[in-house]
Amino acid sequence: MRVLRSAIDVRAWRAHARRVGLVPTMGALHAGHASLVDRAVAECDAALASIFVNPAQFAPHEDFASYPRREADDLALLEAHGCAAAFVPAVEEMYPPGDATRVHPGPVAEPLEGAARPGHFVGVATVVTKLFAIATPDVAFFGQKDFQQLRVLQTIARDLRIGVRVVGCPTVRDPDGLALSSRNAYLSADERTGALALSRGLFRARDRWAAGERDPERLRAAVRAEIAPPAALEYVSAADPVTLRELDAPSARAVVSLAARVGSTRLIDNVLLGMGVSELT
Ligand code: PAF
Repeated sequence: MRVLRSAIDVRAWRAHARRVGLVPTMGALHAGHASLVDRAVAECDAALASIFVNPAQFAPHEDFASYPRREADDLALLEAHGCAAAFVPAVEEMYPPGDATRVHPGPVAEPLEGAARPGHFVGVATVVTKLFAIATPDVAFFGQKDFQQLRVLQTIARDLRIGVRVVGCPTVRDPDGLALSSRNAYLSADERTGALALSRGLFRARDRWAAGERDPERLRAAVRAEIAPPAALEYVSAADPVTLRELDAPSARAVVSLAARVGSTRLIDNVLLGMGVSELT
């Protein structure tokens, strides 16, 4: 596996690769990331993963400094899963001196995480647009767990006519239901047990949906009923999966999502109802 540190190196590598699948990551890789790499390997001629903890998507009070960084382990995982190359740039490579251009996504970035984390999606959209410009992949793979991020990036690729197919892949969970996240590493054993309330709540909403419930407020209530200390709910949402507008009437499709704090760790998760993540483009 090639380890590439500069945009110039990526372009030189890309010139010899045919259909490229990109998996953008911030490292601290787990089985969820591995599943994205597996998709890229299976569906493309060459898989390229990026590892870059993007300062622009963290607010000053957030966990940029403490975000787990495990480059050697990450490279080993990527190689074991058949990645052809890894792009591991320094901050100055992605944000050269004088850098001032930012990509501002539209309304799909406004509610939920966009409201809770002002500026977050500008940072995500900017860095992923740079990655698309550097690597010119044919396809890019993102996890459903960051559902709004997926929709923001699909919308940007469409609106800016970037020519990259942005594919959503199902959330990978531990056997007890906890959605895999690099931030799970922050949880103590008790907090991890408490964090299971999040997936329990979402699965309860999913069960209600399977039993025919379509009222968005009852779906939100099903989630709320499961959340108890040490988990503290920040929001629960039942929204349209395409626009992310909050539902106020029964709908044939919904994304039920939440953000919660467990101790000092902020976690997000969701379930998609009435459609599959691969149907979103
Ligand atoms: O989901 C992530 O890890 C990040 O938000 C991404 C897409 C790699 C952009 O920094």
